Amino acid sequence: MTSVGIDAVEIHTGKLRLDLAETFAPEMGDAPEKYTKGLGLHASSFPDTYEDIVTMGANAAHRLMKRKGLEPDDVGRIDVATESAFDHSKPVSTYIGGCLEQVFDGDFHHANKGERKFACVSGTQSIDDAYNWIKAGRNRGRAALVIATDTALYARDDPGEATQGAGAVAMLIDEDPNLVELSTEQGYGSADETDFLKPQQQFPSVDGKRSVNVYLARMREALIDYERVGGKIHADDFRLGPFHTPFPGMVRKAAVLAYRHTTRDTEIEEELAEEIGRQPRSEAFDSDEAYLEALSEYTDALKETERYQAWYGRTIDPTLTLSRHVGNWYTGSVHVARVSGLKALAEAGEDAVGERLLVGSYGSGAQAEIHVETVQEDWREEIEAIDIDERLESRYELTFEEYEDVHDAHNFDEESAVEEFTVPEAEFAFDGWGRMGERKYRYVE
Ligand code: CAA
Repeated sequence: MTSVGIDAVEIHTGKLRLDLAETFAPEMGDAPEKYTKGLGLHASSFPDTYEDIVTMGANAAHRLMKRKGLEPDDVGRIDVATESAFDHSKPVSTYIGGCLEQVFDGDFHHANKGERKFACVSGTQSIDDAYNWIKAGRNRGRAALVIATDTALYARDDPGEATQGAGAVAMLIDEDPNLVELSTEQGYGSADETDFLKPQQQFPSVDGKRSVNVYLARMREALIDYERVGGKIHADDFRLGPFHTPFPGMVRKAAVLAYRHTTRDTEIEEELAEEIGRQPRSEAFDSDEAYLEALSEYTDALKETERYQAWYGRTIDPTLTLSRHVGNWYTGSVHVARVSGLKALAEAGEDAVGERLLVGSYGSGAQAEIHVETVQEDWREEIEAIDIDERLESRYELTFEEYEDVHDAHNFDEESAVEEFTVPEAEFAFDGWGRMGERKYRYVE
C-alpha cells in the first residue's frame, strides 16, 4: 500500500504583533491573567496592511516549494482552505497560483485548484482531498499543495477579539512523506449548529460560550466514531495530541474529556480509583442530571491527579506553545499545533520515528474529525527547516492605537488609508484593486 501523508510544512505569520497582557488587557479593563492563564494566550499575530490570505498563503507556499526544490510541474493540485475569503466565485488558490507563477519558471495550468469551506476543519478536509486523489492514482506522480490561510479577526468588542490571529500554513501532501503518514481511518462528529458564522460579512457572528460546548460535543462524537473503525483508543498510545486550538484554554477543556474517555475501563482508571474513585456509569443513576453531575465531579478530580497532569504535560502542552504567541489561525490552527508539538520533540532531541499523533480538527457550524498520524524517518530535518521562531521574533509590536487602525483596515467592506508598519521584502504584497474588483499582487524583491 502506498504511504501518503504530509511531506513538508512552511508557516507564515502575520508580520504584526499585539501583546494581549500588556497592550490589549488594560484597554479592555481586564486582568492580564485572563489572557495568559485563562485563555492561555500571550499575543496575536496580525497582518500588515499589504498582507492578506493570498500573500500569507503564497509566501508560505513559495518558501515550501523553494526549500523542496519543486517546480510548478511537480504540483498537480493547489487546494486552499480559508474562512476569510473575499470572493464568492474565484477561489483563493487561483490568486496564489498566479503569485507563484511570478517567481517560478513554468505555470500551474495543469493543476486542479479549489477552495474548501467548512470553518476551521477545512484545512484537514483539503488534506483528505489530496490524500484521496493520490490514493486513487490520479496524481500522475505529482504532489498536492494544501494551504490553510486566514485573517482570524473579530468585530471590535466581541469577546472573540481576545483570540484573534493571522497566518498561513502550506503543506506538501505526497507519497512516501518525510514528516507524517496519515491513517486511512477517520472519525466524524457533524451537526447543523449555529455557533459561529459569517453571513455575508468578514467579521463573524459568534455565540462564544455555546461554541465551546459545540466544540466539545462534536469532538467527543468524532472520537467515538474513530473508535468504530480504528479500535479502542488508549490515552498512552499517542505521543502527541494536536487539536484545533482557537485558544489553548479550549484544548485544556477538551483534553481532560479525551483523557477520561480513553482511560475508561483501562488499568489507568483502576490505578486512579483509590485516589478519586472509578468513573461514574450511567446505569447507576436515576436521572441524567445526577449522572452528569457525578461525571463533572469526577472530571474535576481527574484534572488534579498527578497522572493526568503528567499525561497533559507530555501529550498536549507541547502542541500549544506556538498558539500562545500567535492566537487563532482558524484553518491553520491544528496544523500549527502539529508543528508546535513536533518542534518540542526535536528540541528535546527525542527519537520520534514511528510515534503516533492523535489529531483532532474542528470547524464551527459544526464538524470535528479525528485521525491518526505516524511520524516518519526524516521528520526532524523537516521540522528543523521551519524558521517560525525567527519570524515571530521579528514581528512589529503594535500600540493599542495602531491596533485599532489596522484592525479596521482588514474589513474588506471599508476603504482604508492606514499606512503600512513594515516594509515588504522578498515576499508577495497586495498591490491595489483591478478593474473588475479583483485584488492584485506583486512580488517585492
Ligand atoms: N485569572 C485567571 N483566569 C481568568 C481570569 C483571571 N484574572 N479572568 C478570567 N479568567 C479565565 C476564565 O475563568 C475563563 O476560563 P474557564 O473557561 O476555564 O473558566 C477564561 O479566562 C476566559 O474568560 P471568560 O470566559 O470570562 O472570557 P470571555 O467570556 O470574555 O470569552 C470566549 C471567552 C467566549 C471563548 C471568547 O474568547 C470567544 O467568543 N471566542 C471566540 C469563539 C471561540 O474561539 N470558541 C471556541 C470554540 S469554537 C472554535 O474552536 C472554532 C473557532 O476557531 C472559532
